[in-house]
Amino acid sequence: MRISVIGCGYLGAVHAAAMASIGHEVVGIDVDPRKIEALGRGEAPIYEPGLPELLRSGVESGALRFSTDIAESAGSAVHFVTVGTPQLPGSDAADMRFVRAAFTELAPHLREGDVVAGKSTVPVGTATELEEIVQTAGATLAWNPEFLREGWAVQDTLDPDRIVVGVRSGPEGERAAGVLREAYWKALEKDTPFIITDFATAELVKVSANAFLATKISFINAMAEIAEATGADVTQLADALGHDVRIGRRFLGAGIGFGGGCLPKDIRAFAARAEELGLRDSVGFLREVDAINLRRRERAVQLVLEETRGAIVGTRVAVLGAAFKPHSDDVRDSPALDVAVRLHGLGARVVVTDPQAVPNARALHPQLTYATSRDEALRDADVIVIVTEWDEYRRQMSPDDVAALTDGRIIVDGRNCLDAELWRAAGWRYRGM
Ligand code: UGA
Repeated sequence: MRISVIGCGYLGAVHAAAMASIGHEVVGIDVDPRKIEALGRGEAPIYEPGLPELLRSGVESGALRFSTDIAESAGSAVHFVTVGTPQLPGSDAADMRFVRAAFTELAPHLREGDVVAGKSTVPVGTATELEEIVQTAGATLAWNPEFLREGWAVQDTLDPDRIVVGVRSGPEGERAAGVLREAYWKALEKDTPFIITDFATAELVKVSANAFLATKISFINAMAEIAEATGADVTQLADALGHDVRIGRRFLGAGIGFGGGCLPKDIRAFAARAEELGLRDSVGFLREVDAINLRRRERAVQLVLEETRGAIVGTRVAVLGAAFKPHSDDVRDSPALDVAVRLHGLGARVVVTDPQAVPNARALHPQLTYATSRDEALRDADVIVIVTEWDEYRRQMSPDDVAALTDGRIIVDGRNCLDAELWRAAGWRYRGM
């Protein structure tokens, strides 16, 4: 099947490569010529395990190509729209300019019977607004949200938990869903649930899934606040809660909270959209979820202040982690970097390190000092703060080896990922979240 993918950011680059890997003939389109050149050479613009291999084999076999010219999407049976919907500066709402531009620019190249599948995360109601552009060209719109996680993007794309397709009811919609079934043939071999629904439900599955995940994280972080005040252990609490299959242990990791290019902006955009709909109260709790989340970063900073008894100016702090989560080089709305920036702002001599994200972090916050290795960051540190739970910090640091490098014996575990007793027994002042 001939497929075009409009927008080669995180989602689009992975989607294009994955579609080519299952036998489709794919063209990826993006307005950024540097990105397109790199992708055309089979190079991944982001750190994502498995993506370079997939891109290279797609490009080498000729099944996958990239272009800045949207006219090249002509002749495809399905056009996936995968452009970004970042938070609008100065507002909580999603910036829909890229989605609208993609649809408008694609329209002249659509043929009768083409399927346009929107994958971008959008406010509920968007598909209905965009449908006319597609229909005027004789094509059919479907809304097909994406649920991939960074760090697992290739696996999540090739083997998703479910495929959701929102279409207008009737034969045209059914046909579009059938075309998407063919596009996703490989996942469907594994009995992946294929859910056909209406536009609004499809859009809502995406934003409500992210809202639920964010709420789960903030719930356990709220419990962490209570646990800290009462001497309870939030990790044991999460373990015990998680045994209830209705609750489940995943996403009950207390710490400095969620970040990245999705959860924070998606819950804000959802709350903003609900307000537009006159439904402010329905998802009013998301404001609280956001507030709890942001408090956690401040709490990590407070722990450092408590341990240094306020003498933060000039204190050398090794910040381990910059990416918003492990297995990623993404620093968008990273709680890890936020903690580093706050400590730097208080006068600490901060040295940040991360196995993958240092270049991106440096571009965003050039005022910080960076180390290219963990041990370089640890050398002569008075305080260590772990803010991204890479294995290199979580599993591969022994308290004695670390003590041989540092000046101080204070460690703040912003991800509750170390064995507190082990560090305490080795003479460290350990503080968790
Ligand atoms: C999230 C969703 O998990 C995906 O399903 C969704 O497709 C994606 O957003 C998107 O909308 O595109 P992602 O942003 O890659 O995926 O990251 P997550 O794995 O959800 O982690 C988000 C943040 O939550 C990270 O900062 C992570 O450290 C934090 N987190 C996660 C916790 O603080 N505690 C946990 O227990 C789990």
